Amino acid sequence: MSSQRGYSTCGELRASDAGTSAVLKGWVNRRRDHGGLIFLDLRDRYGLTQVVCNPEDSPAAHGVAEGIRSEYVVEVRGNVRERPEGTRNSRMPTGDVEVDAVEVTIINAAKTPPFEINEETDVDESIRLEYRYLDLRRPRMQQNLMLRHKVIKTIRDFLDARDFVEIETPVLIKSTPEGARDYLVPSRLYPGEFYALPQSPQQLKQLLMVSGMDRYYQIARCFRDEDQRSDRQAEFTQLDLEMSFVDMEDILSLTEELFHELIAVAGLKIQSSPFPRMTYEESMRRFGNDKPDMRFGLEIADVSEVVKSSEFGVFRSAVEGGGVVRAIGVPGTGDITRSGADDLTNFARQFGAKGLAWLALNEEDGKLGARSPIAKFLSDDELMSIATATEAGPGDLVLLVADQAPVAANVLGRLRDRFGDELKLADPAIAAPAWIVAPPLFEWSEDQGRWDAMHHPFTAPMDEDVHLLETDPGAVRAKAYDIVMDGYELGSGSIRIHQRDLQSKIFSFMGYSNEEIESRFGHLLRAFEYGAPPHGGIAPGIDRTVMLLAREPNIREVIAFPKTQMARDLMFDAPSRVDSRQMEDLHIKIVEKEPAR
Ligand code: AMO
Ligand code: AMP
Repeated sequence: MSSQRGYSTCGELRASDAGTSAVLKGWVNRRRDHGGLIFLDLRDRYGLTQVVCNPEDSPAAHGVAEGIRSEYVVEVRGNVRERPEGTRNSRMPTGDVEVDAVEVTIINAAKTPPFEINEETDVDESIRLEYRYLDLRRPRMQQNLMLRHKVIKTIRDFLDARDFVEIETPVLIKSTPEGARDYLVPSRLYPGEFYALPQSPQQLKQLLMVSGMDRYYQIARCFRDEDQRSDRQAEFTQLDLEMSFVDMEDILSLTEELFHELIAVAGLKIQSSPFPRMTYEESMRRFGNDKPDMRFGLEIADVSEVVKSSEFGVFRSAVEGGGVVRAIGVPGTGDITRSGADDLTNFARQFGAKGLAWLALNEEDGKLGARSPIAKFLSDDELMSIATATEAGPGDLVLLVADQAPVAANVLGRLRDRFGDELKLADPAIAAPAWIVAPPLFEWSEDQGRWDAMHHPFTAPMDEDVHLLETDPGAVRAKAYDIVMDGYELGSGSIRIHQRDLQSKIFSFMGYSNEEIESRFGHLLRAFEYGAPPHGGIAPGIDRTVMLLAREPNIREVIAFPKTQMARDLMFDAPSRVDSRQMEDLHIKIVEKEPAR
């Protein structure tokens, strides 16, 4: 019996407890009436224990059990005994024993729940979210919450042992340029003025470095009003950390050591250690995106050189026009049908491809051939070189895209991920973390017509690229890095700018006027004038990390009370209207939009 509780959990009784008496409290997972004996499976977060109510031995307990239904909260007093041979259940830790009930008490009755709690059936997610407290009773969700707890505990212990200090930063602050829309909070005391919820504690942690707290971390809540996705929530949690007097190497090695521990907590195996590192440019070229799933190959090959003077005009003119021809070889799918190929072509078009060329490789009289609409345009040499570059052979399918490099990369990256999924190429027991480093500092923003920070504007440029700031901004690389795993970005970070002049220069370069710079970032720039140490950090997303460690397909499965795809809380039914009195206090009036005529 657990000493702190005074009763047993439903997961702890074993054959060695036979002959003792026990008290159990929990929920009725299932009640089975065998016309005579009544069996109650009692559940709590520790497990399940079988209780037997025998009408001969304990008529009163049996009588109470007759009125019990699923999800009732009950207390059982009884005697632990070994189950008769042949009725033991080796799949349950408590499967060797049962509790012979002496007294059964209904602590609280329960209505029939809107979905089965004792089964892993598919339940409509909106019902699960409306009754989240019941959904969280399900073993899978309890496992996820407990894993999340262990991950956070491991993080805290790991960082505490390395001199990090956990510091809380405010949630009511000012707009932060993290790239998403802000959540705003109206101020009662200052009519017409708003706080913004932090998209991340980025500036606060940098200011803490100026304060001399050289190793900071926080399990920080962040808020971003952006489109929700399977790996995105409006409010989410980061492990936010920052260090002074470090270079990129220090942050990467610390983070890597931490992720070794986190992946071990989940019982997954790491594919390769140290984590592979590649530049952003290399990742885009080989995998078509900046967060590759490295658990399988299917790498993108560039065959521009091979086909630059091909008879196939699409390929030749793409290369002549400064574009590329790239390809992947998909193993064992050379039996593709016409409609299968059309389907892939439509998929490729969704991502901007003008077309998709395919080669179903075969062998005739020991010679490599291909079934393909473009086979007649390709020489034997070209075919052979394409097959070699994509590591494909007879029975395999080669897919080729001719376009400007970014389009070809994106389309083939999507196809690579699609086949990775469909062919189950990734082993779920293996985690493949990797580092993607040195991305461009800026990206061109079409809608704003200006250069925008790719990570955030506090990121330092590579020393050797600083001279390109004015002449070739797109070529400046950042001292930035992402940790990626199994096809997701887990975290990003960078070495920061700590000199006022360079920071102001970057802001003006991004199109901020001097007044804007002062009003939005004056506090940070001033801080840099009072002895700012060089510093850098990273922020892995906790929700995403736990989602991957739990092998869940969706971030909502590892958040106790998540919001829907449409950013609603279905349990509270939030957001919602508030009463007019509150609105008045906040100096807010709702203006209904005129219906469009
Ligand atoms: P960034 O914006 O890349 O960097 O975010 C870092 C990590 O936070 C997680 N994340 C999210 N998780 C769930 N839902 C979201 N909407 C969401 N947005 C981000 C991801 C992501 O990799 N201040 C910088 C970090 C730094 O430079 O130290 C930042 O916030 O896992
Ligand atoms: P077409 O010459 O348009 O009939 O195309 C012949 C084949 O080439 C078809 O299978 C097209 O899907 C494919 N194709 C067309 N444009 C491209 C492209 N940009 N990249 C790869 N394949 C293409």
